[in-house]
Amino acid sequence: MFAGAGCSGTTPRAQGRNAHFFAENPDRRDERFQTPLGVYEQGCGLDQVHLSWGHDEYIYQIAKPCLPTEALYLLRYHSCYPWLREGQYDYLCNDEDRAMLKWVLDFNRYDLYTKSHERPDAARLRPFYEELAAEFFPAKLHW
Ligand SMILES: [Fe+2]
Repeated sequence: MFAGAGCSGTTPRAQGRNAHFFAENPDRRDERFQTPLGVYEQGCGLDQVHLSWGHDEYIYQIAKPCLPTEALYLLRYHSCYPWLREGQYDYLCNDEDRAMLKWVLDFNRYDLYTKSHERPDAARLRPFYEELAAEFFPAKLHW
């Protein structure tokens, strides 16, 4: 689930099983937020939109000083299904957002519903991921 605060945001189809959360949001009773643009300007860029907080934004904030733009986009927006699957929020996107969308879509293939039913061998995998993390991240991160 992903929602932009300050605009009418997602369609009921994109809200899916979370529709009741949207319905209970007090912003639904504020007329300023009931248009697609709401408090935003057309093409303002997704980084100007207040999106719901989740693990996406959390890891984005941690990785921001370390990773290239493409990687930051897929971290920050990989759960933004209204944008990825429904094409919503396009009117809020800028040119960079649209250019980065292909990276987010590529990554999305490896996200939900792609996990194995077999438990990964953490001891065997750890060296690979430690080496990969060391390539991009400093020894200490600011959490
Ligand atoms: Fe995720």
